[in-house]
Amino acid sequence: MASETTPPVEPQVDNTVTAAPVTWESTIKGYFLPSDVECMLNAGGFDLSDKDDVSAYAPQIYVRVKNKTMPKQMPPFTQQNPDPAHPLWTDEMCANFKGWMDGGFP
Ligand code: HEM
Repeated sequence: MASETTPPVEPQVDNTVTAAPVTWESTIKGYFLPSDVECMLNAGGFDLSDKDDVSAYAPQIYVRVKNKTMPKQMPPFTQQNPDPAHPLWTDEMCANFKGWMDGGFP
């Protein structure tokens, strides 16, 4: 005899951050805009267009994007009111960067 209760619906949980594997070529290098590269060559002395430099500075980069103090906003924009054309990183971007670090910079 059929139960009167509806069987529970399995929740459709997607635990993946991004379906494709996160690599420098597929994902990470696209996170840095030309203006980021230019600014940080001057202000940081490292090259955000260079995989080896980004790998070497990855912990510092991660802290700054995660706490939203980078990419630095230029007036009239502020970290609290960022330029839509140069937004702060989303949680997914930060998680992908962290995964790329933890995975040994593929
Ligand atoms: C996603 C983009 C960016 C990342 C990951 C990034 C990362 C960083 C990091 C890790 C530092 C600390 C460097 C150190 O301790 O030696 C830093 C400092 C700095 N960055 Fe960036 N940056 C980005 C974009 C920008 C942009 C667009 C500008 C200019 C408009 C900028 C200007 C500066 C300046 C002036 C400093 C030194 C002062 C400070 O620490 O706040 N950055 N950045």
